[in-house]
Amino acid sequence: MAETIRVLISEDDVDKRICEIGECISKDYEGKQVHLICVLKGGVFFMCELAKRISIPVSMDFMSVSSYGADTKSSGVVKIVKDLDEPLEGKDVIIVEDIIDSGRTLYYLIDMLQKRHPESIRLCTLLDKPDRRVKEVNVDYVGFNIPDEFVVGYGLDYAQKYRNLPYIGVVEGAE
Ligand code: IMP
Ligand code: MG
Repeated sequence: MAETIRVLISEDDVDKRICEIGECISKDYEGKQVHLICVLKGGVFFMCELAKRISIPVSMDFMSVSSYGADTKSSGVVKIVKDLDEPLEGKDVIIVEDIIDSGRTLYYLIDMLQKRHPESIRLCTLLDKPDRRVKEVNVDYVGFNIPDEFVVGYGLDYAQKYRNLPYIGVVEGAE
């Protein structure tokens, strides 16, 4: 059976929620500059949209960690594929993620980035699947809590496909 995508969160709803989070961050960090760290590749769509909605000064950096292969199950292995370009010392860091699932990636990443002495670290994710949590992580900004379904779009992929969908969908009919 061919894969089809069922819309879970519409483009409009995603846009509205990102606006709200942007306003919230702008208020919380008033008078400061935020340093957004994008976890590639999935976080890139969300981070760009979010950055446009933040009205205080923003700087950005990118890193890539991998904990998954081409399938939908966690291997439990987290490795750094690309590190940040800039030091974090004294910066107000917000890690921007596409989705938090088991929490393993962020648990590992936050611990590693704390050791670089940022002024503060917060976590912002577009999607959260709280039912799937294996490692406890404190999430400061959440776009949407979603049920335990494999989702794509807005940066999220299934075997590298569907990242470019402007909404969040569920893959149906996949092997
Ligand atoms: P965690 O370490 O289990 O929290 O996994 C986080 C990463 O797994 C995310 O950044 C995604 O890259 C990937 N992931 C988890 N759930 C999904 C999903 O439903 N669709 C696509 N990717 C997912
Ligand atoms: Mg990710």
